[in-house]
Amino acid sequence: MGIRIRKLSYALGAQIEGLDLTRPIGESEFGEVHRAFLEHGVLLLRGQRVDREQHIAFSRHFGELDRHDSLPRDRDPDHPELLMVTNRERTDGQPSNSRYTGQLWHSDMSFTLVPSLGSLLRAVEVPPVGGDTMFANMTAAYDALSPGMKRLIDGLHGVHQPERKGADQAPQWAEQNRRLNPPVAQPVVRVHPETGRRALYIGEKVRRFESMTEEESQPIIRYLLQHATRPQFLYRHQWQRDDILVWDNRCTMHIALGDYEQALERHMERTTVLGTPSGHVAVDAEVA
Ligand code: SIN
Repeated sequence: MGIRIRKLSYALGAQIEGLDLTRPIGESEFGEVHRAFLEHGVLLLRGQRVDREQHIAFSRHFGELDRHDSLPRDRDPDHPELLMVTNRERTDGQPSNSRYTGQLWHSDMSFTLVPSLGSLLRAVEVPPVGGDTMFANMTAAYDALSPGMKRLIDGLHGVHQPERKGADQAPQWAEQNRRLNPPVAQPVVRVHPETGRRALYIGEKVRRFESMTEEESQPIIRYLLQHATRPQFLYRHQWQRDDILVWDNRCTMHIALGDYEQALERHMERTTVLGTPSGHVAVDAEVA
């Protein structure tokens, strides 16, 4: 029996049924998955009771995996391809470093020179309500801009900072993060290397455009974020344990919602597929 594909929302997302990731996936079967990935931007696979090796093995079909050298504290020591997104207490009793990961609109690894092609997030433990993840279709958002706005932003570069939301970030971690990840300038409009379609590449990690002040940049950034997160461009995912969600970071952005009972566990594990090199270390200090 082949796989079945069912759309999850008007804007983006589709559920794949009939695939069991505890078994090896053949090339032609993966071909169907890959076509759906390019068409829908986000794929949901439910009820996947896989172990870490099987999660990694499936992810490798999409490309070479990031070993998360830019986020060393969040990776699993035995599987550097796995990034923990968790509010589980650390073994030393300290709060998890990654409990706020993703709680702002972003595309994974946009603050590096090899931003991610795609991510595969596995829900190991989820709260009964809340803690959803929202996705925006950045191709549709770009297409809906006026010709004048497209001309204005074409050629601009957004300066992406590595920081996360969550004011109580341990200072030594914030310092390490800044040292490992200097601000990177990425084109505000990127051409998808496989579909050839243009997509907005912006998020809440962008505070200004290269060669412009924050004051000059902010109104346009705020407008683009508000535009891209209009309901018609969104899909909101309500997690179930053993869900695997795959998303294309080149044409979507996402946000993890922190609206859940913090005493309850939310433990997710993510592989990150390396994309093609993009951007450069931001050359100018902020223009005064
Ligand atoms: C992420 O941004 O990779 C994490 C998303 C989530 O935890 O929902």
